[in-house]
Amino acid sequence: MNHIFTRRSMRKYLDKAVESEKCERILRAAMQAPTGHNAQDFEFIVVTDEAMRAHLSLLGPYSHFAEKAPLHIIVCENTLRQWPNSNWQGNLGAVCQNILLQVEEEGLGACWIGVWPYPERMAHVKAALSIPDEIIPYALISIGYKEYEKRADDRFDPGKVHYEKY
Ligand SMILES: Cc1cc2nc3c(=O)[nH]c(=O)nc-3n(C[C@H](O)[C@H](O)[C@H](O)COP(=O)(O)O)c2cc1C
Repeated sequence: MNHIFTRRSMRKYLDKAVESEKCERILRAAMQAPTGHNAQDFEFIVVTDEAMRAHLSLLGPYSHFAEKAPLHIIVCENTLRQWPNSNWQGNLGAVCQNILLQVEEEGLGACWIGVWPYPERMAHVKAALSIPDEIIPYALISIGYKEYEKRADDRFDPGKVHYEKY
């Protein structure tokens, strides 16, 4: 799984649409993620409309670049499928990571933009996409063909590893 070691966030995209087969494989990878009790408590909103992408990209201070990404996938929590007291944020984190890795496999680039837990970001996304009360927008992933390749960086730090005891 070399993509784990080479993946980087991409915030610059070519003006080229993402093929629907690629989008479907990305969504398949997303839904293959592990979830507590196998709750599969996720939902996705796929956005390609240019005006909507421009509007969504105003969701917060670190998201403006997303306007130029031809594909947005909004990863959401369906609270009706939530296991009681579950770590649903952990579930959706695994979903997002699967998306980022499949994006690399497809020869694309992406950036995870945090929506949850910021009330104003969630309100912006919910209003824009007519999201009902029981659905929580968790992250927006901007996806497209990369404008350039980023260099991988090695983050392995043996000092952060504790064997047998802390
Ligand atoms: C929970 C989460 C929220 C993030 N939110 C943003 C964001 O709002 N805007 C952004 O540009 N990048 C965001 N990122 C991407 C991180 O900035 C990026 O992953 C980090 O700097 C490491 O760089 P890399 O992805 O290239 O390895 C987010 C990543 C995570 C996991």
